[in-house]
Amino acid sequence: MTKFDFSNRDSFGSKFGVIAAAAGSAIGLGNIWRFPYVVGENGGAAFLLVYLFFVISIGIPVMLSEFIIGRSAQRNPVGSFKKLAPGKPWYLVGLMGVGAAFMILAFYTVVAGWTLEYLYQSIINGFEGKTPDQISKMFDTFRGSARPIIWFLIFMLFTAGIVIAGVKNGIEKYTKVLMPVLLLILVIISIRSLTLPGAGEGLRFLFHPDFSKITPKVILEALGQAFFSLSIGMGTLITYGSYINKKENLTNTAISVTFADTFIAIIAGIAIFPAVFAFGIPPASEEGLVYITLPVIFEQMTGGYFFSLMFFVLLSVAALTSTISVLEVIVAYMSEELNITRKQATFLGTASVAVLGLFASNSAAVFNVLNFTSATILLPLGGLLIVLFIGWYYNREKVKSEMTNQGTIDVWLYKPFMFLVKYLAPIAIGAVFLYGLGIF
Ligand code: PHE
Repeated sequence: MTKFDFSNRDSFGSKFGVIAAAAGSAIGLGNIWRFPYVVGENGGAAFLLVYLFFVISIGIPVMLSEFIIGRSAQRNPVGSFKKLAPGKPWYLVGLMGVGAAFMILAFYTVVAGWTLEYLYQSIINGFEGKTPDQISKMFDTFRGSARPIIWFLIFMLFTAGIVIAGVKNGIEKYTKVLMPVLLLILVIISIRSLTLPGAGEGLRFLFHPDFSKITPKVILEALGQAFFSLSIGMGTLITYGSYINKKENLTNTAISVTFADTFIAIIAGIAIFPAVFAFGIPPASEEGLVYITLPVIFEQMTGGYFFSLMFFVLLSVAALTSTISVLEVIVAYMSEELNITRKQATFLGTASVAVLGLFASNSAAVFNVLNFTSATILLPLGGLLIVLFIGWYYNREKVKSEMTNQGTIDVWLYKPFMFLVKYLAPIAIGAVFLYGLGIF
């Protein structure tokens, strides 16, 4: 069997490429599909504040820890822990991440597939002349048919097609083009939404906090959403970190990616809530917000055909730059640890996810179990272990050396970072986790 050639390992070619790929991973259905309905269900602005607190105090430290682990080791998540902690069980954290990658990819790509159907419906003007009731039935009928499976498989093929081409010639090449397109479309849609009569009510909902809405469940949801949205806790960013050039400033990269992700989530809220309130539709409608509420709005809105089309292109692009990052975790693991070629790893990974996805697509129960176990349990648990690794196990001098590029750049955030990974992040993750699960 051919051994993986580590001396010839692929990497990102430019600073913008790194940011585009990592922000592309972070920005996805989590921002545009999940964030708005989670905000809607949990009372709006109060949730947003808790969310922002977690993003800064936990999100950035976990992300930076992942970059540090990946770039120090230059391996997939399992190989990284094996290299940095030889003979110790830390590699199980990497393995858990690879497991989470299978689960996330299976249900996430199902939702991405729905997006393709809605893009198709937008193109053929399928919402035209339909009542809200009919549009809502359309979603149910579609989900009960065989079409979601076909779209799911098509989406997996797109994902595999990019990943198979490699890091520089696949992932970086596409995300560099797709991310600016995404931003442009989102800005256009927000402007349209803000100019609708009655838009102010939606902004109030998003930005005016009502603290009585904060409950343990809201806090746990905010933590889970922060992990999911930032793509942290399962090794995606260990993997991407392992492809980052030794000259890049990891701290700045983590801050930029976090900022971009949060900014896009808020803009998505600005694009969606003013429209929702302007048309008098209640915001808490779970996963149907994007697939039922929005098509209803597009149908009634001037220029709806164009905005519907733009919106579902946006959603597909956002999803694609995320699915490739999750598949890359699996492919990097398989090709480096199981000694198969990138091509074989991509085929094998895609085929196994496809099988799991068939179940997720057909059964709401499987879908919910995968969603809950990965996003609410495995990501925070992985994140907790990752900060414990950096804060308590791994050599401080090595952490410092990786953050300062072997002492060549000055990173004033080193001390606050160490405080966060040692104390605040583990305690906060642990407490929220136990509290939210009803353990104390
Ligand atoms: N962050 C992605 C999103 O918001 C989802 C994701 C989670 C991607 C975990 C990779 C790893 O849509």
